[in-house]
Amino acid sequence: LNKRLCRAGNLFTGFVLLLLAGTTVTSVRADAVAGKVVFNQCAGCHAVGEGATHRFGPQLNGLFSRAAASASEFEYSAAFRSTFDDGSRWDVLTLDAYLESPMSNIPGTKMAYPGLKSSEDRSNVIAYLATINADGTIAGASKQAGELNAGSSKKVDTPRALASEVPVPEHGVLHLGRPALDEEIKAWDIDIRPDGTGLPAGQGSVEVGGELYDLQCASCHGVFGEGEGRWPMLAGGQDTLTDDRPEKTIGSYWPYLSTVYDYVRRAMPFGNARSLSDDDVYALTAYVLYLNDLVDDSFVLSAENFGEITMPNESNFMADNRSAEPWFEAAEEPCMTDCISGNASVSQRARILDVTPEGEGDTGSGVLD
Ligand code: HEC
Ligand code: HEC
Repeated sequence: LNKRLCRAGNLFTGFVLLLLAGTTVTSVRADAVAGKVVFNQCAGCHAVGEGATHRFGPQLNGLFSRAAASASEFEYSAAFRSTFDDGSRWDVLTLDAYLESPMSNIPGTKMAYPGLKSSEDRSNVIAYLATINADGTIAGASKQAGELNAGSSKKVDTPRALASEVPVPEHGVLHLGRPALDEEIKAWDIDIRPDGTGLPAGQGSVEVGGELYDLQCASCHGVFGEGEGRWPMLAGGQDTLTDDRPEKTIGSYWPYLSTVYDYVRRAMPFGNARSLSDDDVYALTAYVLYLNDLVDDSFVLSAENFGEITMPNESNFMADNRSAEPWFEAAEEPCMTDCISGNASVSQRARILDVTPEGEGDTGSGVLD
């Protein structure tokens, strides 16, 4: 039944019928909107949408209209290549079984993901994937989107000014570029220092952190922070620092909690960085402390109590005070010979010198020689 329907290209019909046939609860209906939320668990490894590129896993646009294991330029595991060497496609049943337990369904798969245990979540995420066309647009929405775009895409691109026509900026020492906008500086300036400088307002509990962690982090870092496969460990390793192969984790090695907050907010989940709210990051930081036995399960981390946490290995780090050492001071004269006195300044600009070669075979104006 399933094969026939899929071959007929009518995935949606096949989908609903199968669910009805496969369950006595006839009210089960796959919900692509709910599936989009479930897909957050996948988004660290899989991109979808226009221009989606491969992450740790292949992009999943038009999944059901392409052969399985066929995304171009993605290096599938040997297990995947041999399973799908007949050019077969995913269908609702095969994908459902794979997503429930990838590593036992296709032993040797690279998809280091423990699986979606809820059959409802699986149906929903499959329904969501089925709405995504091969070009990344959403099925059914494309016409509407096309209509919406028609109005705005009429803008004619204004040609870019030649560099030599742009006035030299007035600001700064070197008169280059333009001053950064306040919001640009704000977007970049997210570092958090050991003393808590830079922490945003907010809070998060071990409890909430545990839920987020299981959904968005455990597939790589392990349910207990022990690390799946070769992904990094986040917990454990206490008393191993003097071993031949020390296990340097947040609990055993990191000197400051601020680095955990900063790093998770900046870089995790891998492949979907900057997707977490400030409160999510507080909760996850609290949970990582819990995984390292540094707080109990009722703990709530906030901007206010952040400074009260001391990491176990902090005292084994020391401040870099080399510049205070006499030999270092003596070496502080960087210039070797023929150095200018005073500050450097710009005397000519490349665009006025015209040093840019004009094309193939052009050897340049020779001004540089
Ligand atoms: C830890 C990263 C990771 C996570 C999380 C993950 N995947 Fe994957 N997925 C992969 C990798 C890697 C492959 C390629 C498998 C192989 O080559 O063995 C893959 C393969 C697939 C495929 C087959 C694609 C094809 O071209 O045939 C589908 C479908 C898929 N994943 C769906 C999902 C869904 C849905 C989720 C979330 C519920 C998910 N994955 C979560 C890494 C991941
Ligand atoms: C798809 C796999 C993946 C997922 C999902 C993921 N991480 Fe990571 N994580 C990594 C990788 C890879 C690194 C190492 C990156 C590097 O060294 O450049 C890392 C590093 C880290 C580190 C630093 C560890 C160390 O000792 O250097 C922390 C902390 C961390 N991740 C937390 C998280 C949290 C919290 C989440 C969930 C919100 C998460 N990660 C989700 C792959 C992942």
